[in-house]
Amino acid sequence: MILLPQAFLPIEILLQSIVETFFDSSHCMTIIFSQESWHMPSSNSHIMYIFGNNSESLFDLMLNASEAGCSDYIVQINDPKEFIIAFDKVVHMGNVRRSDRKVIILPPTRIGDENIASYDLFEIFSMQETSFIANVLVIAPKEKESNCETYDLITHKFVGAVNNKDPMLLDRWNSCTTTFENSVNLFPHDMSNLQGKIVKVAGFTYKPYVLLDLDTNVVPLGRDGMEMRIVDEFCRWINCTVEMVRDDAHEWGEIYDNLTGVGVIGNVFEDKADIGITALYSWFEEYVVMDFSAPIIRTAITCIAPSPSLLASWEMPFLPFNEYMWVGILFTFLYASVALAIANGFSTDEVFLTTFGIMITQSRPETSFLSWRIRSVVGWMMMTGLVIDNAYGGGLASTFTVPKYEKSIDTIQDIVDRRLEWGATHDAWIFSLILSQEPLIKQLLSLFRTYPAEELKRKSFKKSMAFSIEKLPAGYFAIGEYITKEASLDYTIMLDKFYYEQCVVMMRKSSPYTDKLNVHIGRLHESGLMLAWETQVALRYLDYKVQLEVKLSRSKRDVENIEPLGFRHVMGIFFIYGLGVTISILVFIMEIFAHKKNTRTSS
Ligand SMILES: *[C@@H]1O[C@H](CO)[C@@H](O)[C@H](O)[C@H]1NC(C)=O
Ligand SMILES: *[C@@H]1O[C@H](CO)[C@@H](O)[C@H](O)[C@H]1NC(C)=O
Ligand SMILES: *[C@@H]1O[C@H](CO)[C@@H](O)[C@H](O)[C@H]1NC(C)=O
Repeated sequence: MILLPQAFLPIEILLQSIVETFFDSSHCMTIIFSQESWHMPSSNSHIMYIFGNNSESLFDLMLNASEAGCSDYIVQINDPKEFIIAFDKVVHMGNVRRSDRKVIILPPTRIGDENIASYDLFEIFSMQETSFIANVLVIAPKEKESNCETYDLITHKFVGAVNNKDPMLLDRWNSCTTTFENSVNLFPHDMSNLQGKIVKVAGFTYKPYVLLDLDTNVVPLGRDGMEMRIVDEFCRWINCTVEMVRDDAHEWGEIYDNLTGVGVIGNVFEDKADIGITALYSWFEEYVVMDFSAPIIRTAITCIAPSPSLLASWEMPFLPFNEYMWVGILFTFLYASVALAIANGFSTDEVFLTTFGIMITQSRPETSFLSWRIRSVVGWMMMTGLVIDNAYGGGLASTFTVPKYEKSIDTIQDIVDRRLEWGATHDAWIFSLILSQEPLIKQLLSLFRTYPAEELKRKSFKKSMAFSIEKLPAGYFAIGEYITKEASLDYTIMLDKFYYEQCVVMMRKSSPYTDKLNVHIGRLHESGLMLAWETQVALRYLDYKVQLEVKLSRSKRDVENIEPLGFRHVMGIFFIYGLGVTISILVFIMEIFAHKKNTRTSS
């Protein structure tokens, strides 16, 4: 029994006892009132007062209160529907998220006033917005006998598969005895048993996260996947029923400026689905308008890029020496020619051809008289030539026997340097990078393309682009279906990770499911089930050959090493030979013509 001065109204006493019992853990409450003569309940928590009969400012004031952390409400205004609409707006606009907001709605006027009947307090239960608040308590005046007033304490059914908007009488309170009839929990919806309530889940088939339309003879529910199992297990725990909401064509989807949306994100945003799954990363733009669960899966995004192909064979004769060496040889040639010319008495007669000949260890033509000066210069040149020639011969032998490849694509810098396109079917792959200011990442973004799956499949055979893939914590890969086993042979996984991301479940802001789902996810991590599920799903549904091909793509080249000499190796030399012959024939023909002209003019 609470002793209070007589000045308190019965409903104020009721409110005081409710607040004392159930708002203990509340950090701060907002009281929205329309009567100045109201005695507010005293409480341990902070209280924010809002005068609520001006519906224009109601939203602004509520938003400020909610942002300050005052997100439990006691409402006593003329039209509670206005409050509910403002409440929903606050939830969407505000930055504060809470799964378990409590709302108490009081009758607008005192009992006994004649206009009480003109208000239907239960109307709010039929509103769509109310169905997202688990705990709404309406205090409805019942009857007045002599000095005793009776109040019904009513909430909505909320749980159960059907009629969960129906009002449900929880308890009754009498002002003379100041006791509750049943003394039950007035905020009973703690999400621990939803009695088969339908939870709408948005997702699409993306292996290994979500697989839909499976054979129901093999998988009873016809669906599986790492994230699908999280939701199915969640519903097994809190006794709810999963109903899939699908917009497969838009995959992850997006939210438009006109507050509509498509795909998984759009369906959750428009409240067509309660829960959104399928590799949703913790994207900033989505965080602003939605609730995120605790992270589920840490994924690493990288690419498989075309494997380096064998170098064109005409390049082979140049490979034994690098650029500096070739420059060095050019200078050796020039200096030797100058030395020979000086020894020759400053005459360049046949000097260049002789020097070149000696450098490729050709013998000198027999000359009748040579001075010792020339002989000694030529002798040193011959030794130089011998060294260079042997070095080149050794290099060439190794070039011919060990296959030489183009430089491989290992890092983001490599992709940017080669201006290699990379892509997938949807922009979602770059949502996480889009706000980056880093020049390298910006360049990388400019190379991203989206194509339909068919087009990607075609391109995968042409080796004309890189494909983004995910590396999952247990070591498996999420690879688009458009990469076939045949195409995967020609691709190598990059060393660099483009970025790491945390996958989350998305829900409407302040969704009643968020807290419970977080507890669930915590339990899954604790038990290590996520890693086990990844392995099970991967072994069961992913193409193991493609997985292996990608996983070992960096090590398989060590196997194919030394090969016998083939025509491919010498083709380059014949190419250079052919080029030389062609040029000399052309020069020869030109010489004949020029000579004829000369003889004609001279004669
Ligand atoms: C809400 O708070 C902001 C800043 O804290 C203030 O500028 C604004 O006037 C407040 N709105 C109302 C309706 O009190
Ligand atoms: C789960 O919900 C169903 C109604 O769909 C109900 O019959 C059943 O008793 C509930 N299970 C538990 C454990 O409460
Ligand atoms: C919203 O915008 C998108 C694209 O900008 C458009 O496709 C859609 O029809 C618009 N929806 C409405 C309801 O205006």
